[in-house]
Amino acid sequence: MKKLVAIVLAAGKGERMKSDRPKVLHELCGRAMIEYVLDAARHAGAQRIIVVIGYGAEGVRKALGDHKDVEFAFQAEQLGTGHAVRVCSEQLAGHDGPVLILTGDAPLVLGASLAKLVAEQAKTRAECVLGTAEVANPFGLGRVIRDERDEFFAIVEEKDASDEQREICEINPSYYVFNCADLLNSLGKINADNKQEQLYLTDCPGVLRSEGKKVLALKVLAGEEAYGINSRDQLAHAFTILQRRIHQHWMNEGVTIMDPSSTFVDSRARIGGDTIILPFSYIQGPCEIGLRCRIGPFAHIRPGTRLDTGVEVGAFVEVSRSHLGEGTLVRHLAFVGDAQVGANANISAGAITANYDGSTKNETVIGERAMIGAGSVLIAPVTVGAGATVGAGSVVTKRHNVPAGAVVVGVPAQPLHSKNDKPRKP
Ligand code: UD1
Ligand code: MG
Repeated sequence: MKKLVAIVLAAGKGERMKSDRPKVLHELCGRAMIEYVLDAARHAGAQRIIVVIGYGAEGVRKALGDHKDVEFAFQAEQLGTGHAVRVCSEQLAGHDGPVLILTGDAPLVLGASLAKLVAEQAKTRAECVLGTAEVANPFGLGRVIRDERDEFFAIVEEKDASDEQREICEINPSYYVFNCADLLNSLGKINADNKQEQLYLTDCPGVLRSEGKKVLALKVLAGEEAYGINSRDQLAHAFTILQRRIHQHWMNEGVTIMDPSSTFVDSRARIGGDTIILPFSYIQGPCEIGLRCRIGPFAHIRPGTRLDTGVEVGAFVEVSRSHLGEGTLVRHLAFVGDAQVGANANISAGAITANYDGSTKNETVIGERAMIGAGSVLIAPVTVGAGATVGAGSVVTKRHNVPAGAVVVGVPAQPLHSKNDKPRKP
């Protein structure tokens, strides 16, 4: 197999987003929309990915800094999609093989569909293979024109289309595989003779066809894969589709999500089998929920959280950057932040870790089987030893660590001496 290079077009501003942020950096389920496109390109086998940047270039460069297979091409002026690919010419020089072209603002594309296009191009040695989709509302999109033998003829943009052409519902979602030399060759032959006075990449397949080269338009994409984001409204719609996919994935893995419509699961979250997620829960950021956990209703799991097997995080509980050991229960109205909690601990209603002192976040360590009473406050940094008990309403002040097995009560919390109050066994 020849090496595959992908180009992702992302230089446009996205006027309709009404945002200072480049469109492709707007987030969906915890990641910039363009990152889903990068994943799909990788899934299709791309070894190098060239991202064309222009508007907000530095921001995009920085946001994608961790993607080691990504390189950038700079398009100073947005003169059209064809021009955007032209600015990659230098980076494509010397590449003898297929080039996959995608747009950074269509994050619902599936890697498997792109892989089909790449495989078909390799098999047929077509100079260009483009994926198309049939949609109910083609407004605004390029239409695919076929000849009398139903073969690809041209792509016509909405603004340049005749009334008759606008009736066509087969659209160009902008996913193409070109043979590199033919791509560069056709880019040299397009012009800006159209309503938008831009260099259209969509003219390249037509140029190749008119030269007798093989151009295949394969209707292999689902309508939603063609969904491009141009407005906040479309961002919200894409979010709904992506959430449905994420829910579906975890349900297939054996997670119960009682009411998907009121449950948010970040694309970076991991959830173990037989975990039950009750309504109105927000599972945010990279986090790991173990097997047989019970989350919600109304729970907020924040980034950096790790819950071991059988943990319960109940109603109005927020857990952030914390590790909760096996069987630990935090059932109601609590905040656990920057905490390391051992197994089988119980954090009662209204207990909180005061992790922030106004300048730094500090850690709380809670040993296994510790019992943190209702309404208590643990002021970090502080440790509550294994099997210790913090009485209801106590305030454990910072660095006043509670020894294993001890019982402390009061404000500030003091050891309990009464002979009637037996310490819990460590
Ligand atoms: C394009 C296609 C259209 C297709 C639609 C699918 C063209 C001429 N038309 O139209 O057939 O149905 O996508 O969504 O290609 N970009 C640059 N530099 C530029 C211009 C655009 O990088 O000079 C980037 C944009 O940031 C965007 C992508 O290319 O990510 C597509 O550009 P856009 O202006 O959205 O094209 P459409 O009009 O949607
Ligand atoms: Mg667009």
